[in-house]
Amino acid sequence: MKKVLHIIGARPNFMKVAPIFRAISERGALAQRLVHTGQHYDVRMSDIFFTDLGLPAPDIHLGIGSGSHAEQTGRMMSALERVFLGEQPELVSVVGDVNSTLAAALVAVKLGIPVAHVEAGLRSFDRSMPEEINRIVTDRVADLLLSPSADADAHLLAEGVEPSRIHRVGNVMIDTLLACRDKALRLPTLAELGLAPRGYAVCTLHRPSNVDSPEVLRGLLAALGHVASRLPVVFPVHPRTRGRLADLRADELLESTSGLRLVEPMGYLEFLSLTAQARLIFTDSGGLQEESTVLGVPCLTLRERTERPVTVEVGSNTVVGTEPARIHEAAERILAGEEKQGRIPELWDGRTGERIARVYECFLGVEGATRRAAV
Ligand code: UD1
Repeated sequence: MKKVLHIIGARPNFMKVAPIFRAISERGALAQRLVHTGQHYDVRMSDIFFTDLGLPAPDIHLGIGSGSHAEQTGRMMSALERVFLGEQPELVSVVGDVNSTLAAALVAVKLGIPVAHVEAGLRSFDRSMPEEINRIVTDRVADLLLSPSADADAHLLAEGVEPSRIHRVGNVMIDTLLACRDKALRLPTLAELGLAPRGYAVCTLHRPSNVDSPEVLRGLLAALGHVASRLPVVFPVHPRTRGRLADLRADELLESTSGLRLVEPMGYLEFLSLTAQARLIFTDSGGLQEESTVLGVPCLTLRERTERPVTVEVGSNTVVGTEPARIHEAAERILAGEEKQGRIPELWDGRTGERIARVYECFLGVEGATRRAAV
């Protein structure tokens, strides 16, 4: 059987790979193996997602860990080259825009192995974001570009990509959300945190541009503190952010700010139970802008731009930047009932994994059997 190697490494990769892995396995036409680079390694940043999502343990774990961009990407590339030479896959499948995505795409293309990029074509047009560089380079070298939305297709076409390489398949992460939502809603997360449905906000922050600048981070904390005087704000803290808060000596200040609740990073299901029932979400994450759109929860994106404009044009997202007064004002409007009524974008329907499996089969000249209804 022809073999697909899936490369994963960081938290947002796991929920994107799970539906593709499941669809390929159900259709039975391709062999597949999971390779984890180890970019994220804490149990709460990695292992917990395998359990929550029903993903098998990785076949190969490279244990690369953290480092500067060059160190981390370089170590991944050396290790992945050995894996690809040993495994001899017919296709390397990468998802998203993290350093593991870029490393795998570069190694595969140089070995002459076709590359598929899931979530192709997203652009923030902000080259200071490491993810933007990862997206541009990965799309440039990939053979198959699986895109989530029309704006992504348009970016690829504008960059001169041949239309035959672009496949608009929809948003694969939403497959996972829709498959897990009921299970997540049955968890006792809210009761355990003493929260009422729609009676709290959720916040996540981890972008270097937000958390690595003491000035920006202080401003964001002030804005969140303000909102927290109106309703509880639950803030699961990413390890990068935890480090920066410690540098600022802000931990103590935050924990004493009434209403702002710092908690450990959560697993997929627990976090989904929290976001699905929130009144409002503050984030600088890409994935959460998309998830809030599908959940119909208002989202304020604490960045100057988004690479996911469909969440603003169609969904419940508003990009508010990092200026505290603007954030506070936007939050007040939502709490006063003036919120956007979003819709769910086209093809964000829970069947993207199946469509991706079909594209892979077609590319590799094999045909699988669908056990579910035709897509
Ligand atoms: C990475 C991705 C980012 C993604 C994010 C999701 C890149 C360039 N960035 O950012 O696109 O949105 O993951 O979380 O790939 N750390 C731990 N434990 C871990 C992992 C990291 O403590 O399991 C700490 C380390 O101090 C590390 C820092 O977090 O240096 C940053 O980790 P890294 O993987 O370099 O980037 P993220 O900020 O997580």
